[in-house]
Amino acid sequence: MEENEVMAMPRIGDHAPEFKAITTQGEINFPKDYSGGWVILFSHPADFTPVCTSEFMTFASMEKQFEKANCKLVGLSVDGLYSHIAWLRTIKDRIEYKGMKNVEVTFPLIEDITMEVAKKYGMIQPGEATTKAVRAVFFVDPKGIIRTIIYYPLSLGRNFDELYRVLIALQTADAFSIATPADWRPGDDVIIPTAGSCGTAKERMESKDKDITCYDWFFCTRKLDKDKVFEKVLKK
Ligand code: BEZ
Repeated sequence: MEENEVMAMPRIGDHAPEFKAITTQGEINFPKDYSGGWVILFSHPADFTPVCTSEFMTFASMEKQFEKANCKLVGLSVDGLYSHIAWLRTIKDRIEYKGMKNVEVTFPLIEDITMEVAKKYGMIQPGEATTKAVRAVFFVDPKGIIRTIIYYPLSLGRNFDELYRVLIALQTADAFSIATPADWRPGDDVIIPTAGSCGTAKERMESKDKDITCYDWFFCTRKLDKDKVFEKVLKK
């Protein structure tokens, strides 16, 4: 791919582009196979590289945590299936890192030597690399809609606690019809939709509800217990 080649990239709110692919767990039909649950599709630049190895060990160690929040993981790189298999076997058999060892990656890792999927998802960003995917992360909801996209460059390992925070925040916004403020974490106050009429604005400002705080008519928060959040978003 040329450095100045222009490519359409999926956007937040779009249907996740469809594809069939070979993975380390067999063939997948994306996003159809994941409908009804959340899925994170993420790319990494290459197998047998250090930042990617640290990321895969971290993500695989958190897989159950994501699973409990009804979210599956799917990885991708512009490498072949046998490279993927050899790399994942090496991770399990040989790498001990930050207290993680014998880490088995059981989520699918897509082989994409042709870059067909990587190009569909704007994962090849020629200014950064023409033959490798950047570190892209797509959060796809149970209806197959892209809800968040995050891109990182080759040199920067992702923060997986942040990816989990994003997932829980998206699910909380859906479940409670609220928005989440800067740096929100479960248990923090959430934002009530901005008043859409003068009457509601007045009501909000005059509210005696102890759970509601209005910093001004357009900026009101309410308490939302951590337990209530996890009751809604975690699988029983
Ligand atoms: C890495 O994962 O270590 C890496 C991969 C490609 C370029 C730079 C770093």
